[in-house]
Amino acid sequence: MRKIIIAIDGFSSCGKSTMAKALARNIGYLYFDSGAMYRAVALFCMKNELIKGDNIDKEALLACIKDINITFEVDPETKNSITFLNGKNVEHEIRSLEVSQFVSKIAAIDFVREEMVNRQREMGKAKGIVMDGRDIGTTVFPNAELKVFVTASAEVRAQRRYDELTARGDKADFNEILENVLQRDHIDQTREISPLKRADDALLLDNSNLTREEQMNWLIEQFNKLTQEC
Ligand code: CDP
Repeated sequence: MRKIIIAIDGFSSCGKSTMAKALARNIGYLYFDSGAMYRAVALFCMKNELIKGDNIDKEALLACIKDINITFEVDPETKNSITFLNGKNVEHEIRSLEVSQFVSKIAAIDFVREEMVNRQREMGKAKGIVMDGRDIGTTVFPNAELKVFVTASAEVRAQRRYDELTARGDKADFNEILENVLQRDHIDQTREISPLKRADDALLLDNSNLTREEQMNWLIEQFNKLTQEC
């Protein structure tokens, strides 16, 4: 069976990562979370005092961007991907609201995107991957064989993020999360470089009213159609 690249893009908190992870596990592909890379860079800036008030010290970040080491490992128990920043497990820390509030600004910086996109393309060289993000089908892998653009209403997405944070024992405020979701949508869609937009050849998936099982069946169907033909 031929190996392909699956690009899953869409709005924040619409369950892309969960969906992409489950799909990769089902079809035996590797999963890469491109958002985790931007989150790791954001955390790096927060930890290394590269943020002063609302401003990012871009010069200092540019000087060290190539040395920021971001790697993924699979948790042997849960089989989930864990993000490491310079050798340290930061999987929990990068999901905090503090990082979420800051990450879109980091992801809008040209040289940060350039560096991350190059690294992402390396990860896809051998194909057989599922990668999720904002610009995977448009910029990172414009020739990906299967592209899916996922969306859901802002309220549904905020509720999902709220449930995720409370389930892991973090404090959460629904309105604050909704505001963050809307703000990130705005920054992601209006930034100059690789704004979030549906690729012309991406399949649209609005999962506001779909169960995870219905969604998975639909994805597997699209995957089978592509890999079993010719
Ligand atoms: O999980 P969620 O969809 O909320 O976000 P994420 O995938 O973890 O990505 C965090 C942030 O990184 C997004 O809000 C985008 O600003 C940025 N991002 C991006 O610009 N390009 C990507 N390929 C992935 C994420």
